[in-house]
Amino acid sequence: MSASRINIAIDGHSSAGKSTMAKSLAKELSFVYVDTGAMYRAAALFCMRERLIQGNEIEESRVEQSMDRMFISFKYNDKSETSDVHLGGVNVEKEIRSMDVARKVSLIAAIPAVRHKLVRLQQRMADKGGVVMDGRDIGTVVLPKAELKFFITSDPDIRAQRRLDELQREGIASSFDEVRNNIIERDRIDSSRAVAPLRQAEDSIVLDNSNLTIEEQFQFLLSHAKKTISSKQ
Ligand code: DC
Repeated sequence: MSASRINIAIDGHSSAGKSTMAKSLAKELSFVYVDTGAMYRAAALFCMRERLIQGNEIEESRVEQSMDRMFISFKYNDKSETSDVHLGGVNVEKEIRSMDVARKVSLIAAIPAVRHKLVRLQQRMADKGGVVMDGRDIGTVVLPKAELKFFITSDPDIRAQRRLDELQREGIASSFDEVRNNIIERDRIDSSRAVAPLRQAEDSIVLDNSNLTIEEQFQFLLSHAKKTISSKQ
């Protein structure tokens, strides 16, 4: 891996703005952005379509047996200038953002067989360096040796309002309370699961962005990235 092609891990709470930061950082550095949340969302969609989850009941052994048939990949989208997630070769970027998927995804992401499959894929995507990857366990499990790690958080009310604004821009109907409850519940499940729970890596830089603009956050991350890159050259 060339000296400047470091890997950057961005973890944190739901809807804390990780993907906005990760995307901008990847673009600025000409790195590849990997949205691991999109992969877990695609896995949840797969389980829903295969009827492996009914209500909140999951048949874990069937999920495990079905993993060989679940094909998740990314394809660059020239229009949005980022990669869209594909399930079985079909673009599912819109479906995975629905509240239906948001309600199930933390349950599916807690299944060891699902994590095993997706973590291997994520590690392969980063093995040549030059990746900005966001998620919940990137700095702790997927890329424990990432040269730079951030942990992003902010006040739940602020996160809920930002997420609601985003859903409305995408034409997805919801309410502040529904979005807030979903964010809090996902954080609870993600932080308390047995396998790869959401937690801060000891060597991560923490950013609470409750009172920061997007530009201020971006400059904070970029200055750390530039410092780390130049220290490796
Ligand atoms: O980042 P997101 O909200 O799109 O992630 C969707 C869900 O996937 C989130 O509730 C937790 C799970 N997730 C995970 O368990 N591990 C990751 N690396 C990324 C996401």
